[in-house]
Amino acid sequence: MKFSTFFLGLVSLSVAIATVLDRRAVSDNQLFGYATLNGGTTGGAGGTVTTVTSLADLRSAVTGATPKIVQVSGIITGDGDTIDVGNHTTVIGLGSNSGVTGGGFRVKKGTNVIFRNLKLSKSPHPTDLIELQTSTNIWVDHNTFTSDLDHDKDFYDGQLDMNHGTDFVTVSWNIFQQHFKTSLVGGSDNTGDEDSGHLRVTYHHNWFLDVNSRTPSIRFGTGHIYNNYFDNVFDSAIDSRDGAQTLVESNVFNNVTDPIETTLNGGFSNQRNNIFQDTTLDSDLAVGTLTSVPYTYATDAASAVVAAVTASAGAAIVTSLP
Ligand SMILES: *[C@@H]1O[C@H](CO)[C@@H](O)[C@H](O)[C@H]1NC(C)=O
Ligand SMILES: *[C@@H]1O[C@H](CO)[C@@H](O)[C@H](O)[C@H]1NC(C)=O
Repeated sequence: MKFSTFFLGLVSLSVAIATVLDRRAVSDNQLFGYATLNGGTTGGAGGTVTTVTSLADLRSAVTGATPKIVQVSGIITGDGDTIDVGNHTTVIGLGSNSGVTGGGFRVKKGTNVIFRNLKLSKSPHPTDLIELQTSTNIWVDHNTFTSDLDHDKDFYDGQLDMNHGTDFVTVSWNIFQQHFKTSLVGGSDNTGDEDSGHLRVTYHHNWFLDVNSRTPSIRFGTGHIYNNYFDNVFDSAIDSRDGAQTLVESNVFNNVTDPIETTLNGGFSNQRNNIFQDTTLDSDLAVGTLTSVPYTYATDAASAVVAAVTASAGAAIVTSLP
């Protein structure tokens, strides 16, 4: 081997190693999916930074439309009502144990909001842990949503619900666990006028663990659902209804009663490269038209999903700002 060949070999080896390392870092700290469209999602980047430790201070810090970063320090106990978040806001948990219990966030008629590194738990009905209503460009990243299965299925509301024409949302690297009605996209069969053509949402690298259903349930909208780990889902996992189009690729479904459903008022799904363990795919799936999405993304192989998601989903993993 000539020296130059050896040298080139070394260079390409180190580039290859750097690419692998970068890819890991990029893949769990970068925004992909529908929230990159429509001008992108930057939250409160460049704005004021406030740290809050009480519910009153949290409520007041997240209001208003000027860019702001609100750092939640510790677990703040809610009052069961919504905490309404204004435009151009990043809500981030500090360190490994920060968030809200007993209440939840809502973005209503808003835009450009990021939720990251939050532990969110046990919000009593009718308040969701996060609700996105008539809002655009939202990124929900690296949070842990936890309830319990001891109560009736309607005791808590959704962990992450979107409705009334919400659009351009990315849900990445979250853990959704111990809950009945996990993530509802499209709140009613009767809101097609508001929701058709909207409710475009990407779910990737989330871990749905010990949940009953709605991972997600999507009406009217468009769902790109890739590289998620569905682990013990007692009823239906992805429920595509009312004409919703879903592209479901390179996920792992383990011990799921009904991985993909399209029977309620005619939803559609294309599924490819998924791993199905201890579960059976419906033979009567209605195949839809969503075979590609209007943004660049890279999927992990389905065989790599369990390792990636169990290592890197949830709060306490990525504690810095995007
Ligand atoms: C927040 O953004 C929405 C969507 O662009 C806009 O309709 C609304 O007026 C904004 N709110 C404020 C207080 O600026
Ligand atoms: C599979 O899920 C069911 C609930 O649907 C649960 O009771 C059971 O323990 C799970 N099996 C395993 C092997 O985890």
